[in-house]
Amino acid sequence: MLLSIPQTSHRFGGLLIEEETKVVELDAGMVDSSVFALGQRKKHEQLAEEERQPRGSIGIPPAVLEAMFGQMAIIVPCKDESTETIEGVLSGIPHSCLVVLVSNSSRFPQDRYAQEVEMLTDFCRFAGYGRSRPFMAIHQKDPEAAGALAAAGMPEILDGSDGLVRNGKGEGMILGVALVAALCQPQRRFVGFVDADNQVPGAVNEYCKAYAAGFAMNINSASCTAAVPTVATNTMVRIVWGSKPKVKNGQIVYDRDGRSSRVANKWLNYLLADISGPDQRVASAASLTNIVVTGNAGEHAMDMDLALKLRLASGYAIEPFHFVDLLHQLATSTTTTTSTTAPPAGPKFKPVKILQIRTRNPHFHRPSDESHIQKMRRAALGAIYHYLPLRTPPGGPDGLSLGDRIRACIGIPPAPLVYPPIERLDMAVFRARIMADRKAGSFASFGVPEKVVQG
Ligand code: GDD
Ligand code: MG
Repeated sequence: MLLSIPQTSHRFGGLLIEEETKVVELDAGMVDSSVFALGQRKKHEQLAEEERQPRGSIGIPPAVLEAMFGQMAIIVPCKDESTETIEGVLSGIPHSCLVVLVSNSSRFPQDRYAQEVEMLTDFCRFAGYGRSRPFMAIHQKDPEAAGALAAAGMPEILDGSDGLVRNGKGEGMILGVALVAALCQPQRRFVGFVDADNQVPGAVNEYCKAYAAGFAMNINSASCTAAVPTVATNTMVRIVWGSKPKVKNGQIVYDRDGRSSRVANKWLNYLLADISGPDQRVASAASLTNIVVTGNAGEHAMDMDLALKLRLASGYAIEPFHFVDLLHQLATSTTTTTSTTAPPAGPKFKPVKILQIRTRNPHFHRPSDESHIQKMRRAALGAIYHYLPLRTPPGGPDGLSLGDRIRACIGIPPAPLVYPPIERLDMAVFRARIMADRKAGSFASFGVPEKVVQG
């Protein structure tokens, strides 16, 4: 894969957000691995300089991508997609990645989850060269999963009315990360997310490659040969779709922005501008309005170290809240927290780098109606409004604060729930409960825990 090298990045304390970069070639041919192994991007840039090559792009050799896939778990949250659609998604996930299906599909009158597990088992058996591909699957409403999470220290994720894990995409993703943390360490150092309603397997494949390329490019977090990872910087890779096509008047229109993404991006960029303070805000007003292009990126990945430390939000607020929590954790040294609803300070964070990669495939998925889009926009604005990370000065030309401006625009948005970091879980307890309950509960797996593969 050939990626353009981002030209600009913006630092907010320990958080570095790189401006959009893009996939130049899906397949970059036989990139010289020895060049790459010299130390990823920095050395690559130096070499390009010495050899007077243009340094606008970097090729990630297939062997490096493959080494990364072997360290990645891909979580697929699903809810009532057809098994054919989910199978299409599975077909796009590189063979060496571990698939983790977290389902909230209906079980009555038809047990759709049973059908999903049957499909997954058959798919992995068929794809396994005589032995099944490893996988994990769990149902979000499994009482055993709820019991394991509560016993291990995260009762907050349970719905008080039935004692089961709450509904929501964010909650499903948390359950998936907990499984990877409890059952797949140290093998799976990276975790990525791909929606189950993606109708283009090639797009899924490209997202996973972009995750792997992003990790491999990060000089600190991606030493794919080191026995013990030395992570000095945590990395998050977020996908910007090449296009999000819609059918308008019988024609496919290849829109670039999603309807809720453009709103989430706009307000996150306002937040960054406010955090930068009045001097910088004026100096770089233009550049600060376009930094975040992945506010709502459902497709994203990060190293497990970060996945365990981040506080994750409920439902569709999960992706925009990443930025909010990272600003809380990493940009607070320069300003003071004001929000009364701000979550308590988390465990100490390492510096974090966010890469935003624009992919090539169109993102075709289940169409959403306007009320769903409204819900997503309000969830994103709620993640910002209720958890404003820093004392943001009265901003825009109207002299209003960011919170005032959000309120003036849409009223008070709903506050998402924010869960404690997953590392709060007692993994030994969680693992023991999940493994003990595997006969009674919905948990299905093959080849997990995995044999540790190094190198
Ligand atoms: N496990 C689980 N539990 N999965 C869920 C749940 C749930 O409660 N709710 C939704 N999902 C799954 C869906 O089945 C789908 O595969 C995926 O999460 C995304 O849900 P959609 O309902 O299709 O979301 P969307 O397409 O409107 O939004 C997607 O893109 C946004 C950016 O435009 C999501 O990925 C958003 O999170 C993202 O912000
Ligand atoms: Mg969708």
